[in-house]
Amino acid sequence: MQFPPSAGGLPALDVDAVPERVRRSLAARVREARAAGAAVPGGYHYLPDVAAARAAGLGAVLPDRWRLCFAVKANSFPPVLAALATAVDGFEVASAAEVAAARAALPGGLVVAAGPGKTVAVLRALVAGGVDLVNVESALELRRLDAVAAEAGRRVRAALRVNPSTAAPAGALTMGGVPSAFGIAEPDVAAVLDLAGDCRWVDVAGIHVHAASGVLDAAAYAGYVSDCLALAGRLMRGRRLDVVDVGGGIGVPFGGDEDAFDLARFGELLAGMTPPAGAEVVLEPGRYLAAECGWYAAEVTDVKHAYGTSYAVLHGGINHFQLPASWDLVHRFAVVPVEDWPAGVPRPEVAGGLVTVVGELCTPEDTLARDLLVTRLRAGDLVVFPLAGAYGWEFAMPAFLGHPPATREAA
Ligand SMILES: Cc1ncc(COP(=O)(O)O)c(C=O)c1O
Repeated sequence: MQFPPSAGGLPALDVDAVPERVRRSLAARVREARAAGAAVPGGYHYLPDVAAARAAGLGAVLPDRWRLCFAVKANSFPPVLAALATAVDGFEVASAAEVAAARAALPGGLVVAAGPGKTVAVLRALVAGGVDLVNVESALELRRLDAVAAEAGRRVRAALRVNPSTAAPAGALTMGGVPSAFGIAEPDVAAVLDLAGDCRWVDVAGIHVHAASGVLDAAAYAGYVSDCLALAGRLMRGRRLDVVDVGGGIGVPFGGDEDAFDLARFGELLAGMTPPAGAEVVLEPGRYLAAECGWYAAEVTDVKHAYGTSYAVLHGGINHFQLPASWDLVHRFAVVPVEDWPAGVPRPEVAGGLVTVVGELCTPEDTLARDLLVTRLRAGDLVVFPLAGAYGWEFAMPAFLGHPPATREAA
């Protein structure tokens, strides 16, 4: 099996898919590199205001008592978090480093924490960081959290992360209703709630579900949210229920031919929902807020033709940008032409043909795109992937082969 899948001859994106501001910043990097006689460092170019606008748009359709927290795992670049801080209520975190990043971006903001297998060290960092809600993922974790909170002399508010027995919306990457290491299987929740009664330092006052990913259909996602609210009401019947955290999972159209998530429709559907009395609802999207604010760009070191396939080899690869390979995406890119090329050196190219874009690692897994149709792509040009603002820099494997890690800058 080959990852990512073949694009089957889909055309590469037009250069206009790369905004002028990003192209200017790329041009500056090319000039610097050429002046130094070096290759352009592969890296991320972010427009933080794009993420802030996405968050403001989503925030505007949320009813009262709904809270918006950005999932820091999707993008931890401080300028992006600072921009998002203008439009979100807080952040969702999973580690001590993410707590620090969230606090730095929005002092006093809401911080909620999740993640399977939290160690005592992580729990200590969450408690010391004054996290507002810890989403507990097992009975043992609840006991550990109680002990850590007792040690710190600080009461902690928690929700139980539930792996619901019904599946997430059709078409989504499903993390509910299937065996998974995430959360507590729904049939086991009652026993963990009983245990919570013995925990003196933890108030279990909520339910957390993160069981959908990449959902583009607003009605399907609203249905998922509504199911989470009903589930929380059912599981916590007769108990205090302060908060229902429905996780993330709104998608962005990677393929280019799907419709974007219909925010207005989502808002209408939310307006018709009635959360359990007295409960706040937390939404913690990552990809939807950040994907569109980032572009990954790398220079084409070489163009090769082997047994009928043309390859563009990048100064970069899955050590910088692993998303298309690990999430099995057809991720289209644009070619940004670079005219500067040494006189007298033949310049290999693909013109009007299919190209497979690979990185510089010594493994065939280092493939970013297969079989896209390019008008012209030459050694020395830049290949630029949009929608790289979420799970880009954070999700790569930077240590393999020891090449320089991806750079990050706000364009
Ligand atoms: C607990 C939790 N919340 C929120 C998110 C964000 O999900 P998405 O980027 O799909 O919105 C994730 C992603 O893995 C997660 O694990």
